[in-house]
Amino acid sequence: MKADLLSPAVARYVYEHSTKPDPLLERLTRETLEIAGDSAGMQISPDQGTFLTMITQIMAPQVAVEVGTFTGYSSICIARGLRGGRLHCFDVSDEWTSIARRYWAEAGVADRVTLTLGPALDTLAGFGETVDLAFVDADKGNYPGYYELLIERMRPGGLLIADNTLRRGHVADPAHDEPTTVEIRQFNDLVIEDPRVSVLMLPVADGMTLITKH
Ligand SMILES: C[S@@+](CC[C@H](N)C(=O)[O-])C[C@H]1O[C@@H](n2cnc3c(N)ncnc32)[C@H](O)[C@@H]1O
Repeated sequence: MKADLLSPAVARYVYEHSTKPDPLLERLTRETLEIAGDSAGMQISPDQGTFLTMITQIMAPQVAVEVGTFTGYSSICIARGLRGGRLHCFDVSDEWTSIARRYWAEAGVADRVTLTLGPALDTLAGFGETVDLAFVDADKGNYPGYYELLIERMRPGGLLIADNTLRRGHVADPAHDEPTTVEIRQFNDLVIEDPRVSVLMLPVADGMTLITKH
């Protein structure tokens, strides 16, 4: 599991005491590793997947949005938590999402998922529905843009979850100036200054920020 912020012993303990992925998600993880190589690290971790299913069950969204679908792990976890709502996925890659589409069918969730291909700043701008729940896990430099487009469309009480917001803890070190860390630090600063929302950073995996709209 990804647990960049925990000691190996605590990470193992957390893993052993959290619900594991089922065989389908394990197979998706193996196939993603075989096909994507180093890029497989983009996939969320099993504990994040369990979290996304739980939070979807709790929120019971009619409209859920995911920005950054890749081969489908997080979308399956969200889709499995839906009770009558729909998940709208946005990604730029036909190659990666063709794997996701195959697994949506196998997981029995294809009928509740819509995929829109293209740069998400453009495709989200044309999205006309009120959003209950959003998960953002795409190119980090565009997080402020995705955030604004989603918060504008979000109902009061809606929840936006942003992934990789701790960058292995580097965001807390002002001397760390790797470009993606700087982008995420700017995003974190922007969100905490926004009077429209409440914010909780969870030190899960590489950091997940929960943002609720007032
Ligand atoms: C970190 S991966 C998402 C991982 C996914 N959530 C999962 O659990 O497997 C990031 C994804 O964002 C997509 N992406 C990158 N830039 C994008 C953009 N401008 N618009 C839409 N999607 C983009 C990539 O194609 C990639 O599939």
